[in-house]
Amino acid sequence: MEIIKNYIENNKDRFLDELFDLIRIPSISAKPENQLDMARATEYIKESLLNAGADHAEVISTSGHPVVYGERIVDPAKPTVLVYGHYDVQPADPLELWDSPPFEPEVRDGKIYARGADDDKGQMFMQVKAFELMVKTGTLPCNVKFMIEGEEEIGSPSLKQFCVDHKEKLSADVILISDTTMIAQDIASITVGLRGLSYMEVEVTGPNRDLHSGLYGGAVMNPANALAKMIASLTDENNHITIKGFYDDVQEVNEAERNEMAKAPFNLEEYKESIGVNEVVGEKGFSTRERTGIRPSLDVNGIWSGYTEEGAKTVLPSKAWAKISMRLVPNQKSKKIDRLFEEHFKSIAPEGITVNVKSLHGGEGYVSPIDSVAYKAASLACEESFGKKPIPVRSGGSIPIVSDFEEVLGIKSILLGFGLDSDAIHSPNENYPLFNFYKGIETIPLFFNNFAELKK
Ligand code: BES
Ligand code: MN
Ligand code: MN
Repeated sequence: MEIIKNYIENNKDRFLDELFDLIRIPSISAKPENQLDMARATEYIKESLLNAGADHAEVISTSGHPVVYGERIVDPAKPTVLVYGHYDVQPADPLELWDSPPFEPEVRDGKIYARGADDDKGQMFMQVKAFELMVKTGTLPCNVKFMIEGEEEIGSPSLKQFCVDHKEKLSADVILISDTTMIAQDIASITVGLRGLSYMEVEVTGPNRDLHSGLYGGAVMNPANALAKMIASLTDENNHITIKGFYDDVQEVNEAERNEMAKAPFNLEEYKESIGVNEVVGEKGFSTRERTGIRPSLDVNGIWSGYTEEGAKTVLPSKAWAKISMRLVPNQKSKKIDRLFEEHFKSIAPEGITVNVKSLHGGEGYVSPIDSVAYKAASLACEESFGKKPIPVRSGGSIPIVSDFEEVLGIKSILLGFGLDSDAIHSPNENYPLFNFYKGIETIPLFFNNFAELKK
């Protein structure tokens, strides 16, 4: 522990400078104009891995954005930890809501403010620096591999095939991921569940052109009106999703586990205040934690139609669109949900409207066992660095590739993340407290140590 603390203390400013250089590269996977930045980010990470002590590192192309791979094999007979993370980030808009430019990181009130400060550059870089720490202090107890991808924020379209193509290279005993949250700075937790995702785009068409809303209004089905009604009908008065068959495969969580979940600290008043709502709303019969942790949900992510510029234009639009995502729980299959959604959505279209539905991306949920060696190693590590036993938590977020890792590579993942809900990931003013950044770098070597020890 002393070795770890000393190394961090002596190198902490450099760690931050290096992270800032990575954050300055706007590697937004969704935007074609950032292609070159994707390449710059991969080079930067490859160099970081080599400088940290990788025997070998390379940028491997895929059918989409490339993957950075690196490894240090200390002894083939020893266990191997495969670290996964992503160097791509979400778009930064709306830019005007940022208090400082998203790709010019700065520290204010002990937090790093920038796009990617937490998700996932800050968290992934903790892994790189923890690796460096172990190499330079001669304490690396097992083999390490890195797989850092550039398409997580767009649904990892190429990574499953990448795993198929490089299965041998990626062989490991466990996958270690820092891309999730913990309950609070003084309440460590380990994420043991992720939700799946089904992400759809719908296009609703009425008349063959935009019409004068006086000449035609009242006589023709308006697709924007129709879309609003259709969306409203997707949930009922109990906030139950109305799509036929939607809940068929939902794994009900038993009373004992629900009681266990309810023990995790949660303050509803603080929760409401932190997001500025006066009441929480969700599926009847479930708590807020349960609504995101063990129940599926459906949300409009975007909706547009007709005239949205300044002032008024009297128009009855020809088309209306919406992006609708469904968060799924383990055992629900995203492909099946895509199909149920499409059938249902078409079936509720009113007269005078045609509907087009397409799936943008999706993936399955994940639950990780808490009796595994990796969980024990992570739990002990948190206990050592936070002074308290961490709480297993099911998160509402998704990292769909995690279930593919299990399917293709046959390797389970451990989600040892150090973010906070208040980090505003995907939002303006994304931030990451320095405390969490350094605490992560401190905890990760402890995980490696415990894992190698318990695996013996
Ligand atoms: N790191 C997040 C997921 C996350 C955050 C899980 C916090 C648990 C706690 C990841 O980068 C992410 O944003 N995933 C997307 C899914 C993807 C297919 C776009 C998500 O959850 O919306
Ligand atoms: Mn992420
Ligand atoms: Mn994300």
